[in-house]
Amino acid sequence: MNVLVFGQGGREAAIIRALNVSPSVTEVHVVQGCAALEKQALCHSVDYKDTEKVYELIERHNITFAVIGPEQPLADGLSDQLRKKIPVFGPSQFAAQLESSKCFSKEFMNKFNVSTAKYYVVTTVEETLAAAENFQPPYVLKADGLAAGKGVFICRDLDELQTSAEKLFVHKVFGTAGSKALLEEYQQGWELSYIILTNGKDYRALPLTQDHKRLKDKDEGPNTGGMGVVGPLSIDEHLNEQIIKDVIEPTLNGLVQDKFDYRGALYIGLMMTENGPSVIEYNVRFGDPEAQVIIPLVDNDWGAIMYEIALGELPDIKQKKLHVACVVLASEGYPHSPVKGVPILGDTFNETSSGYFLHAGTDNKEGEWVTNGGRVINALGIGSSLPEAVRNAYAQADKLSWHGLQKRSDIGKNLL
Ligand code: AMP
Ligand code: GLY
Repeated sequence: MNVLVFGQGGREAAIIRALNVSPSVTEVHVVQGCAALEKQALCHSVDYKDTEKVYELIERHNITFAVIGPEQPLADGLSDQLRKKIPVFGPSQFAAQLESSKCFSKEFMNKFNVSTAKYYVVTTVEETLAAAENFQPPYVLKADGLAAGKGVFICRDLDELQTSAEKLFVHKVFGTAGSKALLEEYQQGWELSYIILTNGKDYRALPLTQDHKRLKDKDEGPNTGGMGVVGPLSIDEHLNEQIIKDVIEPTLNGLVQDKFDYRGALYIGLMMTENGPSVIEYNVRFGDPEAQVIIPLVDNDWGAIMYEIALGELPDIKQKKLHVACVVLASEGYPHSPVKGVPILGDTFNETSSGYFLHAGTDNKEGEWVTNGGRVINALGIGSSLPEAVRNAYAQADKLSWHGLQKRSDIGKNLL
């Protein structure tokens, strides 16, 4: 099979790495790709919104099926366009609203009794402050639309809430993505990334992982797209049953009832509270950097898995007896204003039997690798235990440096 992958971050680098060793895959093509992915796949500098060019590419390279990595093309309806020609691993534009509109996803959760926090939809600073009277601090304000993981404000008091609401509604920092927002009850607990593969009718759970969303150690600093992940996480059987009953089954029921064309990965971000699991968000794709850890934990041919899902089937999943850790190496200024073009010191393709790198936001300038985004490189470590995987990920991470590099030093620590 020839596969066409959309996207160019660390998640897509992990997907492509797996497709490259899939017995069922002959060629891996990427739109747009980047300098680092050119070493892994056949990159095409085509705009995914240019449907005619994408169709041309599909025909010219005899593409069997497509995999869409990031949320934006899914929200833009790319899967619906591609599905006119080939099977696609990725949900329809309608289903993608589970991520692209937080209000849509909350309505869905309420309609199908998926356990989640109480909320109000707000559109002005005044409405936000009035709704806050129903909650205790800290207050959680979330932009409705896609905001690259930066649209959530956790506010200690009403002053902070007012400032955040002004950012959305007065200064419009996220444009129309922030013209509507949710004010949500704060959920105290620990977070779990529960990612499933689904054909819209049934599902297979992937190995559980835990992301580290805050920029700094001890969960301090601003929220990011994710600074590191470890897996698999083992949870109590009783807790898993509760998650399935209160969250996964009602979610699947909703997909079926509302006839969502859902073929792909569904990421369910959970907060495990005193009162049980509560959905923080749906993402209609693999998490980044969760995918970097989950994909190598699965002992199947990923080309075959994704193709079957794209066809609406549901393959069995076998888990390897392995542990994987991922440490994100981020640029100076991430998440607010990442500094690009900074030379990376060290061999960015160094690889051993227990560690390797995935490029997430790099570029090559006259033979030199430089930073080209917020999350620059992922350092992966593999081990037969969690501590060993974490140790190997940090040993890998230590092989690179650059001016202003940011990384957490406590990935997986709370589990060790
Ligand atoms: P989201 O983009 O919705 O995943 O939110 C980003 C992060 O904000 C989550 O991973 C949580 O750490 C935090 N968060 C979101 N909603 C809540 C909530 N209701 N209570 C506490 N923390 C939250
Ligand atoms: N790591 C969380 C996300 O992909 O949104």
